[in-house]
Amino acid sequence: MCGIVGYLGTSEAMPVLFNLLKRLEYRGYDSAGIAIMNESVETFKTRGSVDDLRSIAPDIKGCTGIGHTRWATHGKPSSENAHPHCDCTGSIAVVHNGIIENYIEIKGKLIDSGHEFRSETDTEVLPHLIEEYYDGDLESSVQNALSVVRGSYALAAVSADDPDKIVVARKDSPLVLGLGDGGFFVASDVSAILKYTKNVIFMDDEEIGTIKKDGISITTLKGVPVEKKIEMIEWDPESAEKSGYEHFMLKEIFEQPDIIRETFSGRISADGVDLGLTLPDVKRITIIACGTSYHAGLFGRYVIERFARIPVDVEIASEFRYTDPILDCGDLVIAITQSGETADTLAAIRESESKGCEKLGIVNVPGSSITRESQCIFTRAGPEVGVAATKSFTSQLAVLLLLAVQLGRQRKVLSTADANEFVYELKQMSGNIQRVLNDAPQIKECAELFAGADQCMFMGRGANYPIALEGALKLKEISYIPAEGFPAGELKHGPLSLIYDGVPVVAIATEDTVYDKVLGNIKEVKARGATVIGIANESDTEIEKYVDYVIRIPDANQWIAPVLSSVVLQLFAYYIAYYRGCEIDKPRNLAKSVTVE
Ligand code: AGP
Repeated sequence: MCGIVGYLGTSEAMPVLFNLLKRLEYRGYDSAGIAIMNESVETFKTRGSVDDLRSIAPDIKGCTGIGHTRWATHGKPSSENAHPHCDCTGSIAVVHNGIIENYIEIKGKLIDSGHEFRSETDTEVLPHLIEEYYDGDLESSVQNALSVVRGSYALAAVSADDPDKIVVARKDSPLVLGLGDGGFFVASDVSAILKYTKNVIFMDDEEIGTIKKDGISITTLKGVPVEKKIEMIEWDPESAEKSGYEHFMLKEIFEQPDIIRETFSGRISADGVDLGLTLPDVKRITIIACGTSYHAGLFGRYVIERFARIPVDVEIASEFRYTDPILDCGDLVIAITQSGETADTLAAIRESESKGCEKLGIVNVPGSSITRESQCIFTRAGPEVGVAATKSFTSQLAVLLLLAVQLGRQRKVLSTADANEFVYELKQMSGNIQRVLNDAPQIKECAELFAGADQCMFMGRGANYPIALEGALKLKEISYIPAEGFPAGELKHGPLSLIYDGVPVVAIATEDTVYDKVLGNIKEVKARGATVIGIANESDTEIEKYVDYVIRIPDANQWIAPVLSSVVLQLFAYYIAYYRGCEIDKPRNLAKSVTVE
């Protein structure tokens, strides 16, 4: 959802800005631009990628600059609509992530007072407003401009009058400042600046920051000084690099054994599970999330209801917030989000707070918005750059399993013996994921056979149903093959009409209480001509009689097997997209972090 960056320091700004932008490209990649403070504000922007911009921009000298990578909301991808946007004189430049909701009204007034607009964007009102309020001081002009703006923003502004200054501001869009040896950094996301520094300041809503050579000062929008904490990010800078893999997605899939070990570290022991926080004793849980995180939430319902016997509702955040949800004071609302910045998820958790609910976040990115509003359990997946979520999903599943066990023990519905037996199984999870990854060449061969498919179906039952949904989402988002996931028991109620000769159906048929039912469903699709790829346990000697291709996972507890099947489906989608020559890390029209509604 757009990435903004900035640099002020002792090095040339241009290479630093390109480097920062490359690391934020997963937030949007339809156009890019930079502004460097030279004798004037030198702006270059283009439709296309950061590399496209790099290839056309001349070498501009200057140690201060701002940059942007765009995911279009208002106005098509074009160089006119790319950021930075400037005022009428070209001496004030702004990059922005968010949406200015009242831009039409503001734009009308500015046009009436003589301002000339060059783009279709909402953002362009910002430099013109700053120009309108300009009193020789960039910070107070930004402050005044923002007082008339409604909506969300993370912005950085520079002015030719003040070449050694960047003014930044935030409301409902993420913004982090880095304090490095040779300078200061601005970014939408910590992973962009990790290469330069681990010392960061997270901006909070309605704060304005001024970055100058001698330091950073932050005030509220009303000008009241704010004392900010410098936080240290523990992430390894290497983890945000491709490290020899062709795509971030593949690298992130292969990181999963280590990630799961990290997710469990210090949280499981012979005595059970300890997530390091006291969970409230509640009668009902509502999980809210979007996309992949929503699928994790659906899985969470199965495991929490099974282990802790607490009723769980799972809601898509963008629906939940507009349905006047019925929540009882004291219910627990869990928001699951990799980025911690998804606008709908944040709005939904705020809605539940207003109804007096207990809140809990399951989040990956440290310092993200949700961590500032709610107590959180971190998934510890490290920076996830691929737009298609992989390691963040399995680490969410792992946290939900831990949560279910802790709640089950707390409520005494799960015996110590059962909990310990399950913890023993959890400890095998990382090794079992590694064994799935060792079979990647076989999954790749199977994927090659289906790379030309027109559509693909995924089915599973029980806790494998959300995994089927996630398998379908992975395939459609990176390969563009229409894919549908459904509960296998629903076949006869509609999806069966999509089956024709040769259509691939991926059936998750691992051993659990509904295994025989899934075999029955496989027969139903086979009878209508489907080519079935079965995901089955390694000890299953029956499955070959039912399906055309088998991908095996290690024998594992029925609540852990879905995590292993997820890894198979990630690789299956990855290799299909690979054979189709798709831009795997940057699927069309998508951005990783959806910070606007
Ligand atoms: C999945 O591959 C997508 N990137 C997307 O569905 C994502 O899971 C969704 O936008 C939610 O993001 P969040 O976890 O950061 O809130």
